[in-house]
Amino acid sequence: MTLPKLALTDSDPAGLPVDAVVVGTVQGPDGLELAPGAEPVDAAFGGGLLELLKLLGATGKADEVVKVPTRGAVTADVLIATGLGRPVDEEVTAEQVRRAAGAAARALRGTAKAVSTLSAVDLAATAQGTLLGAYVFTTYKSDKGDNPVGRVELVAPTDGTAREHKATVKAATAIAEAVCTARDFVNTPPNELHPAAFAERAAELGREAGLEVEVLDEKALRKGGYGGILGVGGGSARPPRLVRLRYKGPRAKKKVALVGKGITFDTGGISIKPAAKMEEMTSDMAGAAGVIAGVLLAAKLKYPLEVVAWAPMAENMPSGTAYRPGDVLTTYSGKTVEVLNTDAEGRLILCDAISRACAEEPDYLIETSTLTGAAVVALGTRTAGVMGSAEFRDRVAELARANGESAWPMPLPEELRADLDSRLADLANITGHRWGGMLAAGLFLREFVAEGVSWAHIDIAGPAYNSGGPHGYTAKGGTGVPVRTIAAVLADIAANG
Ligand code: BES
Ligand code: MN
Ligand code: ZN
Repeated sequence: MTLPKLALTDSDPAGLPVDAVVVGTVQGPDGLELAPGAEPVDAAFGGGLLELLKLLGATGKADEVVKVPTRGAVTADVLIATGLGRPVDEEVTAEQVRRAAGAAARALRGTAKAVSTLSAVDLAATAQGTLLGAYVFTTYKSDKGDNPVGRVELVAPTDGTAREHKATVKAATAIAEAVCTARDFVNTPPNELHPAAFAERAAELGREAGLEVEVLDEKALRKGGYGGILGVGGGSARPPRLVRLRYKGPRAKKKVALVGKGITFDTGGISIKPAAKMEEMTSDMAGAAGVIAGVLLAAKLKYPLEVVAWAPMAENMPSGTAYRPGDVLTTYSGKTVEVLNTDAEGRLILCDAISRACAEEPDYLIETSTLTGAAVVALGTRTAGVMGSAEFRDRVAELARANGESAWPMPLPEELRADLDSRLADLANITGHRWGGMLAAGLFLREFVAEGVSWAHIDIAGPAYNSGGPHGYTAKGGTGVPVRTIAAVLADIAANG
């Protein structure tokens, strides 16, 4: 992953020796407006920038990028006007700035140096949007295409606030890098990112960051009684793993467990999925990618917390050694589960990891997974569903939204619990009906969370992977959701307990 270098400048953006200058545009009540920060550039255009952009058909709507040759009005050869959309209560939100900066960064590919004036509206959002929008995954392309923009100067005063601005850019950069680490994992194809390879790469990153690293292989999983992970992983020639990465910060006041679903490919197993779009199940390890990136970030930003990330990894395949509908698995907790559908595999690897994580008595547990198609039916492709302890659930969903990741709290209706009762075992892995599939999965997981732990389950089946076209700072493929949510929740726990 090569991301642009960001720098702060207080020079006039019109006179900087760069190739492109970025200004924001807004859909005002009376049509196109220039966003704050564009004034010096407009002045260099003799005050005629707005009229020029109108002439070119600019409206200021989100994801609109208009390129203008500057013909010597400013030092840069090209001006990029990027739309922020319609202000909310007369203010543009941080997310609008992030998206506009992202769209500009996509338009800047192939450019060596640029300056952005969007930072006058929101520095952190411009930094994050620029880095995330510049991201490309070209590992498997012979022709890598245009490089991401090399360097972006962000206009900001460098007076008494310079230190703060530097810290802002540094934190935004660390978070964006973590998001891109998760994206890289998700974008790596399933033949290359099988459980052992995924575990090895996670361990390597963990060691580099000075974390405590533990990887349980299939032998250790058998010895430990991880019947869920072994059951799901049994159909693949490439055996499962459980990764544990622990960061202990200075003066750690709270202990947070992170658990992420790491199905490196989900065929559905014996209850096999239809062929159409099955390739998207390469993203079924996005939860694991998210928690691994999350604990690495906690170490990088030195949060005063203890954070332990747990990533159960398996490939869900049909074969002669695969688990089958009707099997009963004995999970790590000792609870038995009747498998009625081998495609409801995520909850079976997660229950083992959740029980194991709870054995270390965390204060909080955040579990995240591409768990149910029902979550996509309920909330669409861009919004995560958050379930769990009422207070923590609401806190997580709110922090997610405040940090640019759409999420909404969801209930765990008691009346659905009985539908998970099994004829044979303590629990069945699915209900016998189609109703509330996202919530039933949450109720299944709840059975394995220890009493007294504040927990949240984030179903990212929709937002973890973008199968549509690029938009804002989001490319096709892995999005890095829910890394920014995890980052925000950890920061909030560090600050407020
Ligand atoms: N990984 C899938 C869920 C999924 C679907 C993620 C679409 C991303 C996009 C999960 O393992 C699964 O197959 N869930 C089943 C559960 C069902 C059998 C109860 C589903 O949603 O159909
Ligand atoms: Mn499945
Ligand atoms: Zn799955």
